[in-house]
Amino acid sequence: MNARFEPDTRAASDVARFRCVRAAMPALAQGLSVEDLSAQSMADCSPGKWHLAHTSWFFEALILACDPDYRPVDPRFQQLFNSYYEALGERVPRDQRGLMTRPSVDEVLAYRREIDRRMAAWLAQGPSSGLERYLFELGLHHDQQHQELFLMDLLNLMSRSPLDPAAYEVEPREQPVETTRGGVVSFDAGLVSIGHGRAGFAFDNEGPAHRVWLEPFALAADLVTNGDWIRFIEDGGYTRSDLWLSDGWATVKAQGWTAPLYWRCDGGDWTVMGLTGRTPVDPAAPLRHVSFYEADAYARWAGKRLPSEAEWEHAATTAPEGFSNLSGEVWQWTSSAYAPYPGFQPTSGTAAEYNGKFMANQMVLRGGAFATPSDHARVTYRNFFYPQQRWAFMGLRLAEDAP
Ligand code: AVJ
Ligand code: FE
Repeated sequence: MNARFEPDTRAASDVARFRCVRAAMPALAQGLSVEDLSAQSMADCSPGKWHLAHTSWFFEALILACDPDYRPVDPRFQQLFNSYYEALGERVPRDQRGLMTRPSVDEVLAYRREIDRRMAAWLAQGPSSGLERYLFELGLHHDQQHQELFLMDLLNLMSRSPLDPAAYEVEPREQPVETTRGGVVSFDAGLVSIGHGRAGFAFDNEGPAHRVWLEPFALAADLVTNGDWIRFIEDGGYTRSDLWLSDGWATVKAQGWTAPLYWRCDGGDWTVMGLTGRTPVDPAAPLRHVSFYEADAYARWAGKRLPSEAEWEHAATTAPEGFSNLSGEVWQWTSSAYAPYPGFQPTSGTAAEYNGKFMANQMVLRGGAFATPSDHARVTYRNFFYPQQRWAFMGLRLAEDAP
């Protein structure tokens, strides 16, 4: 290829990719009412309107505003739609995002379109440094993370209504669920490499690649199902303290947990709230909406354990054909604390706050969910949540020590 044409070709494909990623969240909002998009169901969740605005603000605050002559679309939005960046000043407290009845949904959508116009102009100039190019990619992946958060938070909101409203007629999903294979896949002991190397985008927390020693282990070919979980419940899973970590048992008692989030038992029949409303629990379907504490207790009940993230990644990298639903169904809890890899370097500048500062008291999940854009997750991807959280599209796959 003639090198002269390279920048133009890249700019054109960057714009096309940008438009494609940015179209997804407004498409999810289509058909929802202003009321649906404005309410906040709990402190962990944000209104849909806020997700639409915050993902636009991210491009403005981290990329466009680097130009010293830049004039913000509306300077007040800096405070309204900053999530957690201390370096960027005051913010509306997280649990008060639902109180922002203004700007309106229409005004937020107009803000979104204006940022898209300005980003297209910025892309026509071409990112001028490696960091600018990385921040552009980060902005796209950030938007995609919030597409999933949009759906998680919308489901949580709908679950709080006695009407069990269906957010959508058909569950928005990226790919069909894969059929089960049965059994386990075994791996020998060895020194393996995990973490992101050099090619292609990754979040800073996925690197650097490094070596980890694994003892022999086996990983279940399939995810734990709803049917498996019903047996756990019926065997007294939520009433036996011996199965639980101390913090987990305290949470069971404090929260009154007797089943996964969104489950309900009416006259012996389990139903579950989902994005298409309340439906009977399908025993064959992969389980969703359990916390790390529940996943850990289940594994102990089953006489097994959760995989470490290194085990999960090694298995998924070297023998993907042995497993069903490695990604595309639920994020899978691991036994690994969310901590920096040896040699971890946060991205420089404001984006240093993106991942690194959350590396305390959270656990890693691997894989990807039905709501994760299919070109978003990677085998090195480290998702993370607090061990008591269960509103994300999360489940588990069991592991065990092998002889
Ligand atoms: C990786 C899903 C825990 O929700 O805070 C969104 C994703 N990072 N904006 C989060 C994220 C910045 C993050 N999780
Ligand atoms: Fe964000």
